[in-house]
Amino acid sequence: MGNIVLLDDLTINQIAAGEVIERPANVVKELVENSVDAGATKIQVEIKDGGKSLVKIIDNGKGIEMEDIPNSLERHATSKIRKIEDLEDTYTMGFRGEALASISSVSRLTMITKTEKETTGIKIKAEAGNIVESEEVASSTGTTIIVEQLFFNVPVRYKFLKQDATEFRYIKEWLQKAAMAHPEISFKLVNDGKFVFQTNGNGKIRDIIYQFYGKEISDNLIDVNYEENNVKVTGVIGNTRIAKDSRKNQIIFLNKRNIQNQVLTNSADQAFKGSTGIGKYGFFILSLDMPANLYDVNVHPTKQEVRFKDEDLMYKILYRAIKSSALSEAFLGNNEQSENKKKYVTDEYNFLTNHFEKSLIHSKTIEESKENYLNNIKNSGETKIENVNTQTSIDFIKREQKRKIDYKYIGILLRTYIIIQIDNDMYLIDQHAAHERLLYEQIKANYKNNITTNSQMLLLPEVLNLTHKEVEFIKQNEELIRKTGYDIEFFGENTIKINGIPDIEYRIKTNTKDMFLDVLDEILDNTRTASKNIEERFIATVACKAAVKAHMDLTRQEVDSLIQGLLTLQNPYTCPHGRPTTVKINKNDLKF
Ligand SMILES: Nc1ncnc2c1ncn2[C@@H]1O[C@H](COP(=O)(O)OP(=O)(O)OP(=O)(O)O)[C@@H](O)[C@H]1O
Ligand SMILES: [Mg+2]
Repeated sequence: MGNIVLLDDLTINQIAAGEVIERPANVVKELVENSVDAGATKIQVEIKDGGKSLVKIIDNGKGIEMEDIPNSLERHATSKIRKIEDLEDTYTMGFRGEALASISSVSRLTMITKTEKETTGIKIKAEAGNIVESEEVASSTGTTIIVEQLFFNVPVRYKFLKQDATEFRYIKEWLQKAAMAHPEISFKLVNDGKFVFQTNGNGKIRDIIYQFYGKEISDNLIDVNYEENNVKVTGVIGNTRIAKDSRKNQIIFLNKRNIQNQVLTNSADQAFKGSTGIGKYGFFILSLDMPANLYDVNVHPTKQEVRFKDEDLMYKILYRAIKSSALSEAFLGNNEQSENKKKYVTDEYNFLTNHFEKSLIHSKTIEESKENYLNNIKNSGETKIENVNTQTSIDFIKREQKRKIDYKYIGILLRTYIIIQIDNDMYLIDQHAAHERLLYEQIKANYKNNITTNSQMLLLPEVLNLTHKEVEFIKQNEELIRKTGYDIEFFGENTIKINGIPDIEYRIKTNTKDMFLDVLDEILDNTRTASKNIEERFIATVACKAAVKAHMDLTRQEVDSLIQGLLTLQNPYTCPHGRPTTVKINKNDLKF
């Protein structure tokens, strides 16, 4: 007799359960998703011992019809789709018809359910997948599912569970996300008999965020409300103050399902650039609502991964959604014309995407990105930047257009912070960060507009002896360096001559040689982000090196020119690295 046999149903279900049910939090996820699909407006979750001994979900959804009950525990049994094409138009959380079969194969499961049209409910008990008891019971419309002794028949699985507190934390975190994805549903969580949280189901995501994250976070959020190509992006993003060291607070829902997607993560990173500090991740809780035929969610049984049909488009949409809010009045706190702002957003966007589009979207290897970058610069950089230089584009920091802002100069604190007063607000301005932001915008504008006269001629050209590595870098990035405003000339094997430097508002006649070497040092040293976004980095580094430092005494005239310059910027509130340039303190904040 051969060795190959068909597995029995229980074994099949237990194997399948391995994919979706790894821990109690997965049980909660699957059951809550079923309640959501059943149209429940109230979902209560009760947990004991981290969910190991009990997970109980009570919903007020539509219930399961009597004749469907046996099927509901069968594998591949679902009321949600009939054929695979239906997925193109399916918005339910479930569709695989395997969650209940999987859970009941590895636990003791009790289900009480009643539909509107029936007068009594049914209660069934299943053990390792088989219905062992069934009786009529009094019940209100809805479904209650009790899962006891998870993995009682799969000891290897049980062994891998973590401490109760840890398992409970997974459950709580997941349920909080579900509550944010469905603000119109009231969720309640009870752990070991103790109340944990309850949302009121009033549909307001802000209320829920306040409840989960507290006042500090809530006060630093800006609404996102963006629509493009049938894709709606709503929710909130956080400003610099609440950017964090981890991605924990980056949550995306796609048609109310919490998902992970690299394209979206990359896009968000890019959009937050300049609005978070170095190494910090922007805070966001965003919902994407879009037609189901534009992506595939059936990539993995847990449905947390998706594949978009048009990844480039999704990248751009999320980028623009975040960027427009990051550049909004609420975020920047100023009163710029919104028409200007729109232009600024598009302009920033074009600037970033023209060169890096592909390499950013599909986070390629460093070598590939470099290759791409160089090719893009070679092939398209010239023409695209010329386009920007037409009448239609706006030079956002035309220096002659500086607005006159009335402010009262108070003084300089600790030789670092300029203090001014505008109306009832006091501003503390970090002189280095502010100057850096100003220079960064000036260099970038020169660069984007491809101004041929963006270089200040040096009376005495500087001759620099460089290392082999430095020369290589310059050769590879010659065009970038020139466009930034450096007029350079190769002068023998390892020597270059600098004839001109970027035309920006230096404070002091900087030592050109040292500054250029510093920039090279910084760029070549910092391999962390090597060659990725080199353009941005180069400009930011030049700005940083050329900017006035802390503890350098500024004259009144210099302060004036710095503040006036700063106030004409679209985003004067952070330096290019995302450090705040300015802190605003209201009269009310000072009351004590
Ligand atoms: N709380 C509930 N209220 C009403 N019907 C439910 C509930 N839970 C399950 N059902 C019914 O039982 C069926 C089987 O549920 P199950 O979770 O196994 O599969 P599914 O949700 O269709 O797909 P998936 O495996 O992707 O979750 C569902 O299609 C639904 O008809
Ligand atoms: Mg389901």
